[in-house]
Amino acid sequence: MKRIPLILMGCGGVGRQLLEHIVSCRDLHAKQGSCLVQCSGYYSSSGAIQAARDVPFRIATSGVQLIPKEVSLQVVGVCDSKSLLVASDVFTRELDDNFLREVIRVKSNGSSLLTLRSFGECRVYSNPESTREITDIAGLLGKSTGLAFVDCSASSETIGVLNRVVDLGCCVVLANKKPLTSSLEEFDNLVSQPRRIRHESTVGAGLPIISSLNRIISSGDPIRRLIGSLSGTLGYVMSEVEDGKPFSQVVKAAKSLGYTEPDPRDDLSGTDVGRKALILSRLLGYRIEMDSIKIESLYPENMGPNVMSVEDFLADGLPLLDKDIQERVTRASSNGNALRYVCVINDSRCEVGIQELPKDTALGRLRGSDNVLEIYSRCYNEQPMVLQGAGAGNDTTAAGVLADILDIQDLFS
Ligand SMILES: NC(=O)c1ccc[n+]([C@@H]2O[C@H](COP(=O)([O-])OP(=O)(O)OC[C@H]3O[C@@H](n4cnc5c(N)ncnc54)[C@H](OP(=O)(O)O)[C@@H]3O)[C@@H](O)[C@H]2O)c1
Ligand SMILES: *[C@@H]1O[C@H](CO)[C@@H](O)[C@H](O)[C@H]1NC(C)=O
Ligand SMILES: *[C@@H]1O[C@H](CO)[C@@H](O)[C@H](O)[C@H]1NC(C)=O
Repeated sequence: MKRIPLILMGCGGVGRQLLEHIVSCRDLHAKQGSCLVQCSGYYSSSGAIQAARDVPFRIATSGVQLIPKEVSLQVVGVCDSKSLLVASDVFTRELDDNFLREVIRVKSNGSSLLTLRSFGECRVYSNPESTREITDIAGLLGKSTGLAFVDCSASSETIGVLNRVVDLGCCVVLANKKPLTSSLEEFDNLVSQPRRIRHESTVGAGLPIISSLNRIISSGDPIRRLIGSLSGTLGYVMSEVEDGKPFSQVVKAAKSLGYTEPDPRDDLSGTDVGRKALILSRLLGYRIEMDSIKIESLYPENMGPNVMSVEDFLADGLPLLDKDIQERVTRASSNGNALRYVCVINDSRCEVGIQELPKDTALGRLRGSDNVLEIYSRCYNEQPMVLQGAGAGNDTTAAGVLADILDIQDLFS
């Protein structure tokens, strides 16, 4: 059996859903697993592959073959913001499914992982010991069986640990955007072994945006322009104001539907879209930092979180913004266009904000909270490649993370 040991950082909405998926997919993964083995004797002297009816699967392009092998995802550690729980022996043991169900239960109640200190066989660490322990485990497993670090936190504090474990030969799977949107130096280090990092869910949740871009890039098809609506919240808001509803009402409705962060200004500021835009820009090879991206905030500085409370913003601030947005919607409409909050990346320039777009494009037709990305390249010139679908949600995001983990299974022995 092939073992994929992993450490999960963050047990919020996404992290807990990932644990549920891992437990419920055990049978599926056991069947889906495969293993690359060195293959000799099945190739003729000319290198041509001979028919081999006795071999279940084979890869035609190299001297390896793929054979079925049960794969088992083994969670050897979990952490929240305060502590780390580790299996008693990371080489041979895991936190079993009963333990993982307890983690889900405890974290759903808003308690700390520490409450599980006497449940089952595990070791418990608090900062700063947890960082040292993680580094020790990474040193032990990274170069032997392999170890996957899965960052489902929303914190920038994980960057240091992630960079260290990458240096120790571990794999990294991210839903968290912050490690990829810090300095270029840290970004370069994290992606220095491209086969060992996956971060599909950092942009568009479960949508195959990163993998599609990587396929286009590696085929030598130059990407000329990306334009996308990458915030479900702002996609919803823009399509509702297009129907003539006041901006303030739409934002309040989005908040009560649970589409926004607790403070809707976290969405309206555009910072999160800016992070996604930076990840995409860097993927295209543009050597830029966060502060070189022009981001349009949908509220002025004098309505910021340091100036007024969420309640005051919703009651008194927001309505003052209605007229301006309404005028922009009307102007766009009279030009035959739709207003969208998008990121645009071309010629190493990256901008995030409201743009007028033709109504007969995928972005112009967008309704509701779907994410949409249009990709223009040599092959996708007049008609872009379009990726569209739910771009948020714990389930889809965790599914994207899980698919990333399975995608690197060949790096584990
Ligand atoms: N939800 C979505 O639809 C979606 C979509 C795409 C991407 N994402 C990304 O996925 C990540 C997780 O989202 P979420 O909604 O699950 O967030 P969340 O509910 O806020 O959960 C964050 C978790 O991370 C833990 N944490 C905080 N600092 C940590 C640290 N230094 N080390 C380890 N763990 C730490 C928190 O611990 P405590 O429990 O102790 O607070 C909490 O368990 C975020 O980066 C988000 O941007 C989410
Ligand atoms: C994601 O999980 C969080 C925490 O459990 C929950 O509050 C939120 O409603 C969930 N979001 C969705 C879209 O299910
Ligand atoms: C790049 O994007 C900017 C802003 O959207 C636009 O004005 C410019 O014409 C674009 N350049 C190319 C070559 O597409």
